[in-house]
Amino acid sequence: MNEHLRRAPAPDLLPRFAAIVGDKYAVTDPQTLAPHLIEGRGLYQGVTSLMLRPGSTEEVAAILKLANETKTAIVPQGGNTGLVGGQIPFDGELILSLTRLDKIREVDASSNTITVEAGVVLQKAQDAAAAAGRLFPLSLGSEGSCTIGGNLSTNAGGTGALAYGIARELVAGVEVVLADGRVMHLLRKLKKDNTGYDLRHIFVGAEGTLGIITAAVLKLFPQPRAVETAFIGLKSPDAAVKLLNLAQARIGGTVTGFELMVRGIVEMALKHGHGNRDPLAGAHPWYVLMEVSSQQSEGLRDALETFLGDAIEQDLVEDATIAANLDQRKAFWHLRHSLTEVQKPEGGSIKHDVSVPVAAVPAFIAEASAAVEALIPGSRPVPFGHVGDGNIHFNVSQPVGADSKAFLARWTEVNAVVDKIVLKYQGSISAEHGIGKLKRESLVKVKDPVALALMRDLKKMLDPNGILNPGKVL
Ligand code: FAD
Ligand code: LAC
Ligand code: ZN
Repeated sequence: MNEHLRRAPAPDLLPRFAAIVGDKYAVTDPQTLAPHLIEGRGLYQGVTSLMLRPGSTEEVAAILKLANETKTAIVPQGGNTGLVGGQIPFDGELILSLTRLDKIREVDASSNTITVEAGVVLQKAQDAAAAAGRLFPLSLGSEGSCTIGGNLSTNAGGTGALAYGIARELVAGVEVVLADGRVMHLLRKLKKDNTGYDLRHIFVGAEGTLGIITAAVLKLFPQPRAVETAFIGLKSPDAAVKLLNLAQARIGGTVTGFELMVRGIVEMALKHGHGNRDPLAGAHPWYVLMEVSSQQSEGLRDALETFLGDAIEQDLVEDATIAANLDQRKAFWHLRHSLTEVQKPEGGSIKHDVSVPVAAVPAFIAEASAAVEALIPGSRPVPFGHVGDGNIHFNVSQPVGADSKAFLARWTEVNAVVDKIVLKYQGSISAEHGIGKLKRESLVKVKDPVALALMRDLKKMLDPNGILNPGKVL
């Protein structure tokens, strides 16, 4: 850490920071601050005396200029849905909330772009695209509250990444305020722009440690004319991977969703998830939620029915049902998106957000489950996730009736066992949630040392005083 850095803003600076945004948007009331200091899983509790809510890029620039001159630390925050503690101030740092930057600046249907400010909630961007007959395909369970700035800063993945790519692939341009207050204007709509280094990608996935994203141009796609959604019971992750390969090769449409779930977590969803009902009559060891989309308005349902019938005959699928209407489709997705919440009533849950090559998913799940069950007898691995991206949320629920504190105290130990298997398959210990605070110590153990040194050089160059989200990522 930079030795001159002030984690908490000096008291005499508070009025100077407040003057930039106006008193109304310089929040000091502990009750208003409270929800910004805890993250969804309750893993972290932060502390701060000030949250600034700027209303323009210029105000963000003025805040950073003052913070840099006075060596005052800043923690950027969007929707506070991040799952690695990146948005939480741990040592009294000032929170820079981007949620007032909430304008959709432009939807350009012909260029297939939407220009949004950082604080725009993901769902609002999706809705604006839909109103113009376009699709913005980034989709997360948190889409009702996470923001575009947070999505880009974490390089979010989600359920649409299989067909449309992760957040990084959906960005055409960015506007970024640098640590010293300069504004980098790269809000281009261009697919082709080879004028030197592509700097936008340095800030995507940087978790607020290199600059503040204030706006972005995002890529849009045609709205599919037909969408069909199936809930499928099968016997193994191996069958799921084979089914995915077959579907991608054979269905007369694009596979736009393919989410794997073990029975154990579906049971939790049925028990604790509001309004969830089992879409299939019998129980199956594994499930896949598969969505296919097409630009042809006719024929997709028939194609999917034929495909699933063949898959049952080939013993790849045990049972399947196709959503009969929009409500049923929403119900399937509701069940899938409730999986983070429904683990909570089961007690302590040790999380992993990992990726391995798609072909290695079945072996990874089998080995990691066996290793964790051997380490903590009675513990319940409940893997689920974006199997088509090789991205599994290998979460482990505590043994029934165990002491949750004692179980959670073994977090690092369980991580070490799982991460070792991930690395054996040349995988990643953070597939889509980022490093933040949670995986900072693990990063140094797994990242190529030359890459790590370059990351540190980049941080020093862009943020020499270390004011941007100190203690996160690096
Ligand atoms: P925050 O949590 O506020 O911040 C996240 C990080 O970005 C922090 O480091 C913060 O400092 C930084 N940051 C925020 N805004 C800016 C900015 N404008 N400029 C610079 N830095 C900034 N994630 C996935 O990838 N895939 C999923 O499928 C998924 N599903 C989820 C489901 C649930 C129910 C929940 C609770 C979370 C899920 N997430 C998922 C995690 C989370 O929603 C994403 O990481 C999201 O992108 C965070 O957005 P946010 O606006 O809430 O950011
Ligand atoms: C999900 C979050 C945990 O996929 O990333 O539900
Ligand atoms: Zn996920």
